[in-house]
Amino acid sequence: MHSDIQEILYSEEEIQAKIKELGEIISSDYEGRNPLVICVLKGAFVFMADLVKRITVPLELDFMAVSSYGQSTKSSGIVKIVKDLDVSVEGRHILIVEDIIDSGLTLSYLIDVLERRNALSISVVALFHKPARKVVELEADYLGYALPDEFVVGYGLDYAEKYRNLPFIGVLKPAIYTR
Ligand code: XMP
Ligand code: MG
Repeated sequence: MHSDIQEILYSEEEIQAKIKELGEIISSDYEGRNPLVICVLKGAFVFMADLVKRITVPLELDFMAVSSYGQSTKSSGIVKIVKDLDVSVEGRHILIVEDIIDSGLTLSYLIDVLERRNALSISVVALFHKPARKVVELEADYLGYALPDEFVVGYGLDYAEKYRNLPFIGVLKPAIYTR
């Protein structure tokens, strides 16, 4: 385990097992629909890479970067598109891939944007969610693990851009925040 991590919440094996499960459900739901799979950068890039390998229907993918957190650990509620999609979503079945749903503000904003661009359907898959922090009433279509109300890192998620490469998800030692 990394020396800055206080506790591992989900191991690499547990994460991969969940992704296999999600991939199977998504594959059967999207039979014949050729989805456009959208990765919300940066956090979702690791999940995206593992998930698309478990989806068996033909798909295309694209990337979008939004910022809502900066260096802080709390959502500002302000979402900015830092990098937009390269392809059009018009008339497409969209699957948004998110790392974690916290307040839900980022996702509800994204869904709104893609709806206004005339996507045919929009679904969301999130590997993690924090039920205790939900602000926006938003049901992801495919949800992985629930997390406690704690700031987590690893498996794509960062603190000040670090720890994204950890293969598990865990809680940072408080000393890391306060120094
Ligand atoms: P909202 O509140 O808009 O937040 O649902 C979603 C985005 O916030 C980031 N986020 C986290 N990042 N550890 C992180 O490294 C966390 O515990 C955490 N909680 C939320 C994440 O980028 C997500 O897309
Ligand atoms: Mg972040």
